[in-house]
Amino acid sequence: DDAEHLKPRAPVVTIMGHVDHGKTSLLDALRGANVVAGEAGGITQHIGAYQVKTPDGSQVTFLDTPGHEAFTEMRQRGANVTDIVILVVAADDGLKPQSIEAIAHAKAAGVPIIVAINKVDKEGANPQRVRERLLEHELVVEEMGGDVQNVEVSALKKTGLDKLLDAIAVQAEIMELKANPDRAAEGTVIEAKLDKGRGPVATILVRRGTLKVGDIFVCGAESGRVRALIDDQGKQIKSAGPSMPVEVLGLGGVPMAGDTLTVVENEARAREVATYRQEQATRKRTVQAPV
Ligand code: GTP
Ligand code: NA
Ligand code: MG
Repeated sequence: DDAEHLKPRAPVVTIMGHVDHGKTSLLDALRGANVVAGEAGGITQHIGAYQVKTPDGSQVTFLDTPGHEAFTEMRQRGANVTDIVILVVAADDGLKPQSIEAIAHAKAAGVPIIVAINKVDKEGANPQRVRERLLEHELVVEEMGGDVQNVEVSALKKTGLDKLLDAIAVQAEIMELKANPDRAAEGTVIEAKLDKGRGPVATILVRRGTLKVGDIFVCGAESGRVRALIDDQGKQIKSAGPSMPVEVLGLGGVPMAGDTLTVVENEARAREVATYRQEQATRKRTVQAPV
């Protein structure tokens, strides 16, 4: 990015934590929605991506990751696009294996952690115990002289939500997050699927530039032209700037989570890059195949 074209962008926040500690409920509460109710068995199977407006009018992009061990890889991919990790810990259950795993992922990625101590409404909730256990993993909260912000919340009773958004704003301000919106777009595939009616659909997190309807792109080993952009409210939009999650229609095939979408100047160039990437992928498979 050309330094003089950099403009402030929304922080990308990934919500991590042990299964059933309330990641999706917390995100639902923050955005005034109810995703948990629509999930099979209350288990998050994919990474949802949403933007939330804070009380001061700024935006925060949230990624909700599944809680199960089998999705560790997806979670790692999630951490790569992440500016800030919210570690959700249920106050009645305390630090669990996947909480500790999330701490390790965030640390490995060099991403700051804010701890949301959830379910403080429950009998047996012990937020102080959570803060003490965090010490064992070198997360020293502010009350104990460290610099890790922690906020007590209840996704159920909707308490502490503004405080959590404030904590994110404080952390984001320190980080001075910027991107150039005035260039060809580049983004990361958060999730992708083949939709019966709409064909291949990918949720893209725009990293830099502005993605527009009509743009020609390469996405992983697929190429395409943006036929439609749909925001997290299901509304059709014309363009999406840095830090915005958006559904993209018009892909030639289904890309993989973690793939990069790059806007290119014309279709010939798109095919050229896509073919090159397909060859690279084939070569990798050939080399790695056991003899
Ligand atoms: P996975 O995606 O499956 O890992 O779960 P999750 O972390 O997204 O948790 P989820 O939001 O599905 O919540 C798990 C359960 O905890 C649900 O039954 C919620 O209703 C309940 N729950 C979440 N937050 C709170 C809270 O603040 N207080 C109470 N009492 N219950 C909560
Ligand atoms: Na759950
Ligand atoms: Mg969930």
